[in-house]
Amino acid sequence: MHRLTSQHGLDMPAIGLGTWPMTGAECTRAVHQALELGYRHIDTATAYDNEAAVGQALRDSPVAREQIHLTTKVWWDRLTPTAMRQSLEDSLRALGTEQVDLFHIHWPGKDWDLARSIDTLVALRDEGKARCIGVANFPLGLLRQVAEELGAPLSAIQVEYHALLDQQPLLDYARQHGMALTAYTPLARGRVAEQQVIRDIAAKHGALPSQVALKWLLDQDGVAVIPKASSEHNQLSNLAALQVQLDDQDRALIAALPKDQRVVNPEFAPDWNS
Ligand SMILES: NC(=O)c1ccc[n+]([C@@H]2O[C@H](COP(=O)([O-])OP(=O)(O)OC[C@H]3O[C@@H](n4cnc5c(N)ncnc54)[C@H](OP(=O)(O)O)[C@@H]3O)[C@@H](O)[C@H]2O)c1
Repeated sequence: MHRLTSQHGLDMPAIGLGTWPMTGAECTRAVHQALELGYRHIDTATAYDNEAAVGQALRDSPVAREQIHLTTKVWWDRLTPTAMRQSLEDSLRALGTEQVDLFHIHWPGKDWDLARSIDTLVALRDEGKARCIGVANFPLGLLRQVAEELGAPLSAIQVEYHALLDQQPLLDYARQHGMALTAYTPLARGRVAEQQVIRDIAAKHGALPSQVALKWLLDQDGVAVIPKASSEHNQLSNLAALQVQLDDQDRALIAALPKDQRVVNPEFAPDWNS
């Protein structure tokens, strides 16, 4: 399995399994199946209400916990020091583990004390409850503040990224500062595969459009992907995306696609240009 490393000890498979919006037995089944098929990177969050289901799959699976990279996140309304600590404790209990491999602030807070939240994030890492830390959905200005002014030892950022959304400024920044970028919603929930250009490239290589969408991301330095897939067929075909070989002509065609199609933009989202 192709791995991605970044500063402060992050070392994770470049393809992970996204688990939202699966919950309960459906989630346990899908995660267990993914581990059986070779996935070793699972993405969850308190907000997905599925950590206990993921934990059940981890317990049921013969794959050892140390072999699996596990990411979880704290929701944006639990960013005071006490609430954040409690959130991670709850996550660890639900997941049945003493440490997660990567712990993210899921979204920037509202009217929050940024420095105190970041101090707490760093303390949880120093205490060993999270091996590495990161932030998700932070626009560039805020990321810069956290990394440079507050000096937080971030290993990764997680943001929406796919062939229909430009994230070049964040990607450049992540690379310059030694962070990995985890691309969430990497298939744009099917929209990338609907593009005729992507379908033509897939046909040329005897691959699936979804594999072209993922390989375009995986070919970029420092980028990991976490497609959500529940069926065995989709989980396997996403893993096999690594075998697709894109060429410069394919990349030029994909570069020319519209890059303003943001799929995830809830009312509590930050100003993306800030
Ligand atoms: N940090 C954040 O704020 C944030 C926000 C959104 C998502 N995420 C994370 O990112 C993960 C993925 O994002 P997402 O679920 O929004 O979107 P996505 O991965 O782009 O798309 C998921 C959809 O694509 C389908 N699919 C997967 N593989 C396929 C294949 N090979 N062929 C055809 N269809 C396929 C899935 O169907 P089946 O399930 O039927 O296979 C599902 O309907 C989430 O599960 C979550 O872990 C994080």
